[in-house]
Amino acid sequence: MNILDIIDKKEKNEKLTKEELKYTVDNYLNGTIKDYQMAALLTEIDLLGLSEEETINLTDIMLLSGKTLDLGIDNLTDKHSTGGVGDKTTIALIPLVASLGVKIAKMSGRGLGHTGGTIDKLEAIEGFKTSMSIEKFKEQVNNIGLALVGSMENLVPADKKIYALRDVTGTVDSIPLIASSIMSKKLASGASNIVIDLKVGSGALVNTKKEAQELASLMVTIGKNYHKKVACLLTNMDEPLGCAIGNALEVIEAINILKGKGPEDATNLVIKLASLMTSMALNISEEEAKIKVEENINNGKAYEKMLKWVKAQEGNINNIQIAKNKKIITSKKEGYIKKINALEIGKLARKLGAGRLNKDEKIDLTVGIVLNHKVGDYIKQNEPLATIYYNQKQISDEELLSCYEFSQEKVKKPHLIIDLIK
Ligand code: URA
Repeated sequence: MNILDIIDKKEKNEKLTKEELKYTVDNYLNGTIKDYQMAALLTEIDLLGLSEEETINLTDIMLLSGKTLDLGIDNLTDKHSTGGVGDKTTIALIPLVASLGVKIAKMSGRGLGHTGGTIDKLEAIEGFKTSMSIEKFKEQVNNIGLALVGSMENLVPADKKIYALRDVTGTVDSIPLIASSIMSKKLASGASNIVIDLKVGSGALVNTKKEAQELASLMVTIGKNYHKKVACLLTNMDEPLGCAIGNALEVIEAINILKGKGPEDATNLVIKLASLMTSMALNISEEEAKIKVEENINNGKAYEKMLKWVKAQEGNINNIQIAKNKKIITSKKEGYIKKINALEIGKLARKLGAGRLNKDEKIDLTVGIVLNHKVGDYIKQNEPLATIYYNQKQISDEELLSCYEFSQEKVKKPHLIIDLIK
């Protein structure tokens, strides 16, 4: 077997066997297959796709490329988001679900992009520890029902190396490669129930509903192959989620969601995801689960669980620093907000220092943008549109205003939930 024959076979759009895929992944990991050879194969896969069988085989090979986590705890439930601007759902969601007796042992990333990943965001809470031994991780899940740490080194090493190459070869958007990448990591972390928030829109990994449905069905099929329950929620990412964009600001918004004081769209999404996770874990209908979820927001139990979780990971919830410098940007126009470009707002948050483009860049957890209004709202001239929290780096009024489109006609609020595939 050799890589040139494998590339040639894919070029002719012939199916690769499991042995050929394993040969490729193993030898790429050990350095025998070079980046340029792997890039050639990934490009062919991006152009021609993979069959369902090839995708399932690839997932299995990636999953077994490193260690898998077995905490010995039954019926663990996990959540994954493909990431979007202002997406702080995990921080509100996991204590909420844990407050209903659902067990969560979550691994999250730092992530590259407009703002940090969940791990960065949580580090905006003074003292919050995002790494711990496996023993402590397990003990905390058993004691309080949830724990969250950064991804472990030796979990799915094949994905780490292949993803880094996809990132620089324009092959991130291949549906089978995304499915095998996400599912190998979720399967390696050992959960029985997996809910995936698949973002669709201008600020997201996939831009159309059709592509998202294809990706979701594939991930559900892969999960079924491992006897896991998988639900994939397709959600809109054309405007930022909620109002806060920036690490500490997003943690504060997540806390507000748990206190029942969050923005409507982000709160609805947290409730929907929590209902799905709870219904899968407790084997009850989604409607029953939703009643329980809303009850635990209203009676304060979800927030109490957040306090226990933060304390268990040594954080001080009363100390979440935000930048001292504030600038309010007002509207130069009057009308209904038709569009707030999520991607462009994300880039501005990164310009303020809230995100990073390469993994060694340091981010400023205290800066970001808080939107006063969302799509569909009516705005008068000179009304505040957003508040910028900044330190050394700034953005201009024009830069922010260029993310908005206005209309004189009434604009409907966008539907956040596009589809559910399970
Ligand atoms: N997120 C992942 O984990 N993998 C992908 O391939 C794309 C998004």
